[in-house]
Amino acid sequence: MSNPTPQPAASGKTPVPGWYGCESMEPGLQIEDPYSQFRELRERQPVNLTPDGGWRLSRYRDIHKLLRDVPSGMRRHNGLLPGQDVEEPGAGIFMLLQDPPTHTRLRNLVSKAFTPRAIEAWRGRIEAITDSLLDGVADQGSMDLVADLAQTVPATLICEMLGVPVEDQEKFTQWTADATHGLVVLRGMGDDKTRQRVEAASLSLLTYFEGLIAERRGKESDDLLSTLITAEEDGERLSEIELYSQAIGLLIAGFETTIGLIGNGLTTLIRHPDEYQKLRAHPELIESAVEECLRYSGPITATVRVLHADAQFGDYVIPDDSEVIALTAAANRDPEIFDDPERFDITRYEKENGTAPHFSFGGGVHFCLGAHLARLETQIAIGKLVHRFDDLRLLNETTEWSRSLFRVPGRVPVTFSDSPV
Ligand code: HEM
Repeated sequence: MSNPTPQPAASGKTPVPGWYGCESMEPGLQIEDPYSQFRELRERQPVNLTPDGGWRLSRYRDIHKLLRDVPSGMRRHNGLLPGQDVEEPGAGIFMLLQDPPTHTRLRNLVSKAFTPRAIEAWRGRIEAITDSLLDGVADQGSMDLVADLAQTVPATLICEMLGVPVEDQEKFTQWTADATHGLVVLRGMGDDKTRQRVEAASLSLLTYFEGLIAERRGKESDDLLSTLITAEEDGERLSEIELYSQAIGLLIAGFETTIGLIGNGLTTLIRHPDEYQKLRAHPELIESAVEECLRYSGPITATVRVLHADAQFGDYVIPDDSEVIALTAAANRDPEIFDDPERFDITRYEKENGTAPHFSFGGGVHFCLGAHLARLETQIAIGKLVHRFDDLRLLNETTEWSRSLFRVPGRVPVTFSDSPV
């Protein structure tokens, strides 16, 4: 971290740097319970200055302010990402790491494909994929929730949307998991092994897309890759490096995170058998149940912004140009906002309850572009599995994580009985 020097606020208080029970800066925190660390930090120093000069927010109201109300973005005043000395080709060119107007131009090119209406058109396809996956394991009485469901549904969907051959998905499962660490490596963080894996995965993805794009040129159709290629050939709307970066970024975003939502969501439901049975008895609760899975055990626990002006949070002024980590998973359990926040309750998001939205998809101009897709895929995958299978038992007591930066399980073996409601 090389943030500007902290300034005392009008109140005259300066923060005492420390970790306050939450030492890791890794946003994935692939441990069973990062939430007790988040709680301790939120209670002890909600506007936190770490010993290495980083700022972290953990209260709902502060994170809302950061993402929605104060001037902020992804880049510093010098145009670079925090931790970068020069602009490097690669992950940083993806829309997530750009500020307007570049961000707006890149997002607008593909946003039409992700509206609620456009996504709803995929419902039948998602249902068919899910049914065939569940048919395939029904007689076995056991399955791996990741390999047999959570991975295949989103991987097939994003491949079909992008126009990437679905049969190649095995090739890039490991590449996409490794490539997620690019988000921290490009900020100068991560150990040597992580850097090497990111480099190898990025090179493999780049080579793969070079072949695919060369093949597709001149034969464009209505998939997202064709939309991007056409924009690049236009000469004005997209450069070549932007084309590669958006295509690879969309594949990774669409592939990785939803595996985590379906996998963690089902694990959480199985660990709360009353809620599992409630959902079996009331399938109409599925939308609320998936929102609660996002709030309670979503795959991404943090996002970041760079302040573009001094801003006051609680007692402190965080200086202009500082990088601030928003611990969104901590805000999702803030008792000032959520009733009994540590309770997993699939009825919490029923419309009449008026529960505040969670921050698992971020907020502001970078709010997750794939949120409708991720919700629909998860509602169908979880809804159908719960309706069809009963007596689910987890064979592992603790989660076996994948190599992703995020909270994405690698394997969730279970046994079940095939007894539809
Ligand atoms: C459960 C699944 C998912 C979760 C938890 C998730 C979460 C997030 C988060 C936290 C952000 C950053 C938001 C911010 O900083 O304000 C983001 C951005 C993004 N997500 Fe997702 N995501 C998911 C699924 C998807 C899917 C399926 C896609 C589809 C391709 C997708 C595409 C994107 C894109 C393109 C961005 C960058 C948006 C921008 O910068 O304007 N995500 N997502």
